[in-house]
Formats: sequence, C-alpha cells, structure tokens
Amino acid sequence: MMRAVVVKTPGPVESLQLAEVPEPSPGPGELAIDVAYAGVGFVDTLFRSGAFGVPTPFTPGIEVTGHVREVGPDVVGFRPGQPVAALLNDFGRGMRAGGYAEVAVAHAAMATRLPDDADLARMAAVLVNGVTAWLALHDLARLGVHDNVLVLGASGGLGSIAGRIAAGHPARTVTGVFGRTPGRPSATGPWTHTVRSDDLGSIGSGEVDVVVDPVGGELSRRAYELLAPFGRLVVLGNASGHEHPVSTDSAWLGSRQVLGLSLGGVAHLVPDRVAAALSAVVGLTHRDVLREPAPAVLPLEQAADAHRALEQRRAPAKTVLAVR
Ligand SMILES: NC(=O)c1ccc[n+]([C@@H]2O[C@H](COP(=O)([O-])OP(=O)(O)OC[C@H]3O[C@@H](n4cnc5c(N)ncnc54)[C@H](OP(=O)(O)O)[C@@H]3O)[C@@H](O)[C@H]2O)c1
Repeated sequence: MMRAVVVKTPGPVESLQLAEVPEPSPGPGELAIDVAYAGVGFVDTLFRSGAFGVPTPFTPGIEVTGHVREVGPDVVGFRPGQPVAALLNDFGRGMRAGGYAEVAVAHAAMATRLPDDADLARMAAVLVNGVTAWLALHDLARLGVHDNVLVLGASGGLGSIAGRIAAGHPARTVTGVFGRTPGRPSATGPWTHTVRSDDLGSIGSGEVDVVVDPVGGELSRRAYELLAPFGRLVVLGNASGHEHPVSTDSAWLGSRQVLGLSLGGVAHLVPDRVAAALSAVVGLTHRDVLREPAPAVLPLEQAADAHRALEQRRAPAKTVLAVR
C-alpha cells in the first residue's frame, strides 16, 4: 500500500483526500517511479473539479520526479534506482495522471533520466509547462530572432517558463502580460517589457509576431488584434474559463495564424518531439540556463492548499508537492 491524494467525487478542493491505496505496477513499456516531487498546475484543478470527466476514484498530478522503482516489460534504457523525470498526461495511451502519490506509473517514452545531482524539486516544476512552451514556440510558432513575443498569463506556471524559453531563443522582445490580482508575484523574470492586462491597448496594432496564450477569453481576443501580418496566436489553455472564437475571415484578411496544442492529447502521436523537448527543458534547467526560480514546496498532505491558491490567483508561479 502507499499514500496518495485521491479524488472520489470531483468537486471543490476538499475533494482532495489523502488515502492509503494499492501501489500501481508497470505494464509493458512502462516504469514505476518512487515519487520525490509532483508538480501542481492549473490543469490539476480542472481534473479535480470534474471538467474532464475522469473516471473515479483517481489521483491527480501529471508530472513527477523521483527514482525508478520497477521497469515493466519491453522497456530499455532505464533501471531501478536511476533518477528520472516523467510526464503522466499521456491521455492517448490511456493514462490518467496519478502523480500525487508515493508511486506513479509513466510510459517510458514520456520519461527521461536525470543527472545524479539533479535538483528534483526544481525539475518537477518545469516538466509539463516547459515541454508545452518548448513545442509551442519552436515546433508551432517557429520562433525567429526578429520576432516580438507577447506572453499572456505571465505570472503563471506556463506563461513564466514560456517567457524564459522565448528570451533564451532569443526573440527580439518578450513582453509579459500581468493581471491586477493582488498577491500575485511581481513582474520579475525574463521580460524585456511588462504590461498590465488592462493596458494591452498601449501596444500598437501589428507590433506582435507571436502570442503565447494560456488564458483565453477577452484577453486572447485583444492580443489577437495586435498581431502583425504572418503573426501567430498559439492557444495553450483557457485559465480564464472562456474561449476566444476566431473569425476565419479575420485570419485570412489579416494574414494571421491560429495554432493550438494539447500536450497530453498529442504526446502519443509525436513521441520524438516530446522526447526532444523534454530533454531540452531538463538540460536547460539543470544547467540553470532558464534561470527558473525555485518552486514553492508543500508536503503532499497540503495539495488542497496548492489548488486553493491557484484558483484564487495568488499562487507562486509554480508549486511542487514533496511526496517522500
Ligand atoms: N496546452 C497544454 O498542453 C497545456 C499545458 C499546461 C497548461 N495548460 C493550460 O494553461 C493554462 C495555465 O496553466 P498554468 O498552470 O500556467 O496556470 P496558472 O499558474 O494558474 O497561471 C494562469 C495565468 O492566467 C492568468 N489569468 C487570467 N485570467 C485568469 C482567470 N480568470 N483565472 C485564472 N488565471 C487567470 C493569471 O494571471 P493573473 O492572475 O496575473 O491575471 C495566471 O498568470 C491552464 O488553462 C492549463 O490548463 C495547457
């Protein structure tokens, strides 16, 4: 048996309950991992509240670091005891999270070995958002050195690492868009400029080449209107709870592109791209090239506090749960 955070009935943060449950075993192509840290992201709050209709009971958590516990049949390149990082949002292969637990199972194609001296807390904080941002900027937006990048939701987990990856590429400018919610972290980071979401009008129409959009809704609509010809809106989420319907006429008349990515939905179809992005993000983090700030660390039993802070828009850019 192992300790895990379990959701029996989707709902408010109180539906996250610590429980003793059977340990999972790896099937063909899978690894069991002794989890050291599990990352917490906004998407976990959507799992918990029932937005995705995941069969219950389930354990949230789609990114972990730790050590290989057991290697399933047909797995090469891993052995017990190695430090590893893994993505668990492998929806195409039927996996459904499971990170807030002492043992998690990942597909080997979604895992990567870590250096022996890797900072496992810091690594757990960059996996989903880092890989998503990497694919969005490189594979979708095809970021160029002359591009002006606008990152919505810049105070959040996905927005902040997208800004760091864009700044490291490098792009010409990387502007972070921050909300007005009291208690959110200040606008520090990789930004050449910052702007309040209410003041987006201070950016001229046609001055933006790439918009990174984890927020959706009205902010997404206003950012889209700023795109230059051949500009790209990369839609990655809807933290606002709203989508932004786009007119196809506005796309062709303005010569603009709208691109989307769901890492968990597509990972099984593009394993080489995911593996390359995971390797790049882990390597850049380990060498501190991304200059990611250390995440907030909470014990596993405080998962509900982490979810509450995210929903109230007062969370640090990233929180990880210390599991062991
Ligand atoms: N496409 C993918 O594969 C993928 C991967 C990871 C995450 N996501 C999605 O990306 C989104 C962001 O995730 P995250 O973990 O970065 O979340 P987060 O840390 O909570 O950040 C969300 C950001 O959105 C801004 N925001 C604006 N309006 C908001 C509202 N009404 N409610 C909450 N936040 C609002 C917040 O900034 P202010 O408070 O400063 O306004 C905050 O910076 C989520 O929708 C998540 O599901 C998608």
